[in-house]
Amino acid sequence: MTDLKLKHIKFDVDADGVATVLLDKKGEAFNSLGPDLGDDLFAAIEHIEGNDEIKAVVIGSAKKDNFLSGADIRWLKSLDDPAEAAEMLEAAQDGYMRIEKLATELGKPVVAAIHGACLGGGTELALACSMRIASNDEKKTQLGQPEVKLGLIPAAGGTQRLPRLVGVAAALDLILTGRTVRPRRALKMGLIDEACPKEVLLDIAKKRALEAVAAGPDQETDGENTIGRIRSFLAPAHLQQLALEENPVGRRLLFSKAEEAMLAETKGNYPAPPAALRAVKTGIDEGLDAGYAAEIDEFKELVVSPEAKALMSLFFATQDLKKDRGTDSDVAPRPVARTAVLGGGLMGGGIAAVNATVADTPTRIKEIDEAGVGRGLAYVGGVVNKQVKRRRLKPRDAAKRMHLVTATTDWSGFEKVDLVIEAVFEDLDLKREMVQQVEAVTGPETIFASNTSSIPIALIAEGAQRPENIIGMHYFSPVEKMPLLEIIVTDQTADWVTATAVAFGKKQGKTVIVVNDGTGFYTSRFVAPYMNEVGYLLEEGVSVEDIDAAMVDWGFPVGPAQLIDEVGIDVAAKVGKVMREAFGDRLVAPAGFDKLLADDRMGRKNGRGLYLYEDGKRQGVDPTVYDTLGVTPETKLAPSEIQDRLALHMVNEAALCLEEGILRSARDGDIGAMFGLAFPPFLGGPFSYVDKLGPGVVVERLTRLADSHGDRYQPAGILVEHANEEKLFRG
Ligand code: NAI
Repeated sequence: MTDLKLKHIKFDVDADGVATVLLDKKGEAFNSLGPDLGDDLFAAIEHIEGNDEIKAVVIGSAKKDNFLSGADIRWLKSLDDPAEAAEMLEAAQDGYMRIEKLATELGKPVVAAIHGACLGGGTELALACSMRIASNDEKKTQLGQPEVKLGLIPAAGGTQRLPRLVGVAAALDLILTGRTVRPRRALKMGLIDEACPKEVLLDIAKKRALEAVAAGPDQETDGENTIGRIRSFLAPAHLQQLALEENPVGRRLLFSKAEEAMLAETKGNYPAPPAALRAVKTGIDEGLDAGYAAEIDEFKELVVSPEAKALMSLFFATQDLKKDRGTDSDVAPRPVARTAVLGGGLMGGGIAAVNATVADTPTRIKEIDEAGVGRGLAYVGGVVNKQVKRRRLKPRDAAKRMHLVTATTDWSGFEKVDLVIEAVFEDLDLKREMVQQVEAVTGPETIFASNTSSIPIALIAEGAQRPENIIGMHYFSPVEKMPLLEIIVTDQTADWVTATAVAFGKKQGKTVIVVNDGTGFYTSRFVAPYMNEVGYLLEEGVSVEDIDAAMVDWGFPVGPAQLIDEVGIDVAAKVGKVMREAFGDRLVAPAGFDKLLADDRMGRKNGRGLYLYEDGKRQGVDPTVYDTLGVTPETKLAPSEIQDRLALHMVNEAALCLEEGILRSARDGDIGAMFGLAFPPFLGGPFSYVDKLGPGVVVERLTRLADSHGDRYQPAGILVEHANEEKLFRG
């Protein structure tokens, strides 16, 4: 029993002298560490330090499926003074050090009892404990240091304790990538000492704590109380030894390899991973004190950096979208018990695979012939098998997933389907025919969703009996990997249809944005000027290499010329024409695309494009492409000029989409660009990028480009308005 009363912690001491500290942040479903919970935690530690009756401690959580998610990101985002950040980190490091010392100096072992998310500051708290026991729930429990994903580094001891516990290589892997691990993997790598069912987690934790007390700090026992567990009670001395075991030459090699891999991945655009690497290295080379100081020095600068602010904004936007129902009305989504997919090609196969493996929903594929049926099922089989290989799916569950998908060449089974997703060829007449046929075989409550990549949904719905049931569900390729779903609503789409499509998209694990109808909606329209501009630059004699290098350097994972080859030059040209019809000269596809097509260059799909292909593998740039275009690649532009021409053209189109009401918000524009089109996350999306440069600067640069390269660069009215009023899009 205890008289300690805390607001955010349930504290208790049992008859054996084991104190239980259950984190329980008031008014929240998850625990996150800010001054509120932090103060309570450190008050509990102080109480334990001064209370001789307490022999051991268990730190767990009173939340349902959450241990501690890390620092409170709202609070981190509000920090704008490096000195204030440093002060708060010193307090956090000091608090965690006191937890470590409960065991090492006061002989009170501390066992972390982990179920649910244990991330960032949560993992750092667990690392400061003398022993870590986690629930064996592979779905709910995960540990890791995902700070780099927010542009930060672990700075409450994570860069120091983790390498000493699991080794430098394994720690760098987690810290530099932000990857999280489930209990089985955590146990294997030594991050936790034991895994058990969540029902007995606290009991086992208390038992181990008492065993550790009985064993004392200087003894090792065998039997159930394994040496590994007791060793971790001997924390610092033993762990330091582990690090020193690695010889300096090997260590240097390890760090330089890690740096190389990291640079290849981040292209120097993300300051957090190199900062984390420096902090780990300092701690290993110069000792713990220097390491802890390095963590603080790096973190306090990172937390106020534009990259971290952009990544934190992205985090909040994604959280916000999870709650967004896609419509202002409060109409409820209807259940989707069965789905159908028309067309089992690249997209249809992918959608069916996601329905089976993620949404857990029976799906019927409709194809034109047996070959199509075979292709569709083979696609699903391929996705399922890959998941089995990667151990995401047990072999016995694989068969269950496959059984969820059936395929047919007729309309049998359609009478029971709630949602039909159409992914046949990109052809308006064919899509209208699909609407008619589906309406004939389904009931009044069946939704017809088109996965068209450019045709306005209202055109597809023309002549439909139930246009209110028609909506766009635009997926990205490969569907099973790409996180975005762009849902397109027309003036006629019923609210319940929107709400149902959004809810089902979330069930598929997608990040969903809802946009209004129009040619190319948002995402296809956003990318069109980007692809067009490649054609213009080539025609001016800029080389493919220079164009791609400039944009990769700017932050895209692949260059735009490579992207065109991947998408298909035929597709890019076709989309270009559709865009021109809708938007006039602003989106004219350059003549170069036709010259390439006349030379039978379609890109990767036929092994002839801007790049060379051998056995399906991309090689270097095809030098003969310049002859095809009738140019000599001798024009040298500064990378910044290439970047402005490509990026600002695209950003301007995003602004026009907002101005015209295609986009419901700048937030959706940012998310759509990053999740659908790989716009660099550290820039936070096109609208955050405008905010970062300042709308005035963007308008000035666009005007200059319009003067020298034509009206397609005329800045959007909404940009000019923001520049004049000195307003930001995302604030
Ligand atoms: P695909 O050519 O791989 O697949 C189309 C499938 O539809 C073929 O298997 C074909 O046999 C089948 N099909 C044609 N007529 C049919 C009919 N009457 N009934 C049933 N099945 C029929 O094409 P893909 O790439 O899957 O594209 C499908 C749709 O998705 C198109 O509208 C495309 O614009 C759109 N889309 C494509 C993306 C991509 O990256 N490929 C991205 C987003 C949308």
